[in-house]
Amino acid sequence: MMKREIGHSGIFVNAIGLGCMGLSEFYGPAVETSDGVALLHAAIEAGVNHFDTAQLYGMGANETLLGEAFHDRRDKVVIATKFGPVRDKETGAFLDVDGSEANMRSAIEDSLRFLKTDHVDLYYLHRVDLKTPIEDTVGAMAKLVEEGKVRALGLSEASADTLRRANAVHPISALQSEYSIFSRDIEDGPLKGVRDIGASLVAYSPLGRGLLTGRYTADYKPAKGDFRSAATQPRFEDEAFKANLELVEEVKAIAIAHNAKPAQIALAWVLGQGEDILTIPGTTKLANLESNLRGSEIGLGGEERARLDALADQVKGARYPASRSSNINA
Ligand code: ATR
Repeated sequence: MMKREIGHSGIFVNAIGLGCMGLSEFYGPAVETSDGVALLHAAIEAGVNHFDTAQLYGMGANETLLGEAFHDRRDKVVIATKFGPVRDKETGAFLDVDGSEANMRSAIEDSLRFLKTDHVDLYYLHRVDLKTPIEDTVGAMAKLVEEGKVRALGLSEASADTLRRANAVHPISALQSEYSIFSRDIEDGPLKGVRDIGASLVAYSPLGRGLLTGRYTADYKPAKGDFRSAATQPRFEDEAFKANLELVEEVKAIAIAHNAKPAQIALAWVLGQGEDILTIPGTTKLANLESNLRGSEIGLGGEERARLDALADQVKGARYPASRSSNINA
């Protein structure tokens, strides 16, 4: 196993953790609770100890699932969760991002209750609230550290400037942003900020939301409840999707040369970008999780890296639609 520290928090985790979102929402129907708990227990046995959730995922359902799985083995897991986005309780529609202390206070109490724990290891602001100064939000989050409810702080999809301002209030241990062979836009700004302040990058969607696993073919149609569609994910829009599938062929070719899976190559690429990078691929299946963990054992050669490095500029479609981009790298 490859162990890495989350910033300078003193919290060490396996460099490959588990992004838990897809167990409850956005990638099709939620898994049955018993199946989800079984997967989470098996993940611990397989060596995973960094589990990433958020209040947003299933509006508490994902945290509740983790609580069910981990309440009797809390010392074996590092739990990261997030607050900020506000949704309509009836419809689930996204209403706002609220980084105020009042919203944080109610969110953390819900999270602790759902997670059946008295502390969260890593607490993130899920998206930057453009109306509330980051100093105010992080100042409030720092109180949770003093109170023992939270061990370390993080931001998600924040810019380098926001990271520096936040870190001046309280050490920021992690930036969680999308980072993969297909998504490298953070390199010019946020990733530099991470390095300036001595934090870690927690790379989400390292598999390009599944694209980089080679599982898709041109006839893919999103299932009910799967947000990988043209409206919410521009890279899955018909023409872009077909062009992006062509690029995956290069990842597949490198996988064949290593007798490996494309997903393992995608993870090896991310982890090879720096010792300050952790990653949290998502999966609902134990076989995929076990296979993905072997990604940290693969060493890519310089020529292979160069071939993979060349792909991001050719990807068609933005990470998010314009309507959801205002607090990306914000
Ligand atoms: P996110 O961080 O948003 O969860 P990701 O990690 O880039 O995104 O990709 C997650 C997607 O990749 C999921 O749809 C997952 O599907 P399963 O639940 O069916 O596994 C898919 N995925 C993960 N590992 C995979 C693997 N080894 N082979 C095929 N698909 C995989």
